Amino acid sequence: MKTKYTIEDMDRIADEIRSRIAIKPEIGLILGSGLGQLSESIQDPTVIPYHDLPGWPLSTVEGHAGELVIGKLEGKDVLVMNGRIHFYEGYEMSQVTLPIRVMQRLGIEIVIVTNAAGGINQDFTPGNPMVITDHLNLLGMAGPNPLRGPNLEEFGTRFPDMSQAYDRKLVDLTRKVAKELDITLHEGIYVCLAGPTFETPADLRFLLNAGVDAVGMSTVPEVIVANHGGQRVLGISGITNKSFLYGEGETTHVEVMETGKILAPKMMELIKGVLRSL
Ligand code: HPA
Repeated sequence: MKTKYTIEDMDRIADEIRSRIAIKPEIGLILGSGLGQLSESIQDPTVIPYHDLPGWPLSTVEGHAGELVIGKLEGKDVLVMNGRIHFYEGYEMSQVTLPIRVMQRLGIEIVIVTNAAGGINQDFTPGNPMVITDHLNLLGMAGPNPLRGPNLEEFGTRFPDMSQAYDRKLVDLTRKVAKELDITLHEGIYVCLAGPTFETPADLRFLLNAGVDAVGMSTVPEVIVANHGGQRVLGISGITNKSFLYGEGETTHVEVMETGKILAPKMMELIKGVLRSL
């Protein structure tokens, strides 16, 4: 499987998508673990299995369907990624972030990224969404940044600013919508770790001390590439479990998926509300 992509590779996928749809999607949505049911609300959907897209990396994780769903949601033309791949599966950062590049080639200007995350902030209640105000790029600080390698000038600058990686207007809008819909919304800083292990209590106390509110294994690479390409980003974590700072409980994938089911309708309402207000 390919790990380095040229603009032509990206355009080949973008052209394949374009050839199957009559609309021009303006918003991209990436759905994380257990949130797949969000794509069921899309009207007049065109479903494109990832394996129909030339060179598109395929996910191996349970709970991640592999398809694009393109259609109308709250009057907006959206392209939804139902399932994503992760660094821990063994993929390169270029593969993890390829879908964002394809969205950029399709002219998508806003990306809404969701994920499942552990609540390091002990005031958080699992089952509630958290709007991401900033991230800690722990993975990239110490190693693989998706922009490492020759800069793709067509998309953006060599040294991109990250002072507003999560668009403040979109964060404000999300707060407002949550209030109107009476959805409890946490907010805070997300950290992406490489995974696939969940954290040790010492990891979690380290992250808490670093100012982190929620921990997961995705999103940050995509958000970096989205920012590089000039897209506006909204990030929403579904808090699926409490982080046990002193090892007083265990974290399991089953729990993450189960809480994901409770979260999915709330995340859907929130995202629909945001789309209506855009
Ligand atoms: N840690 C890392 N990733 C996660 C978690 C967690 O506790 N919950 C959901 N994804």
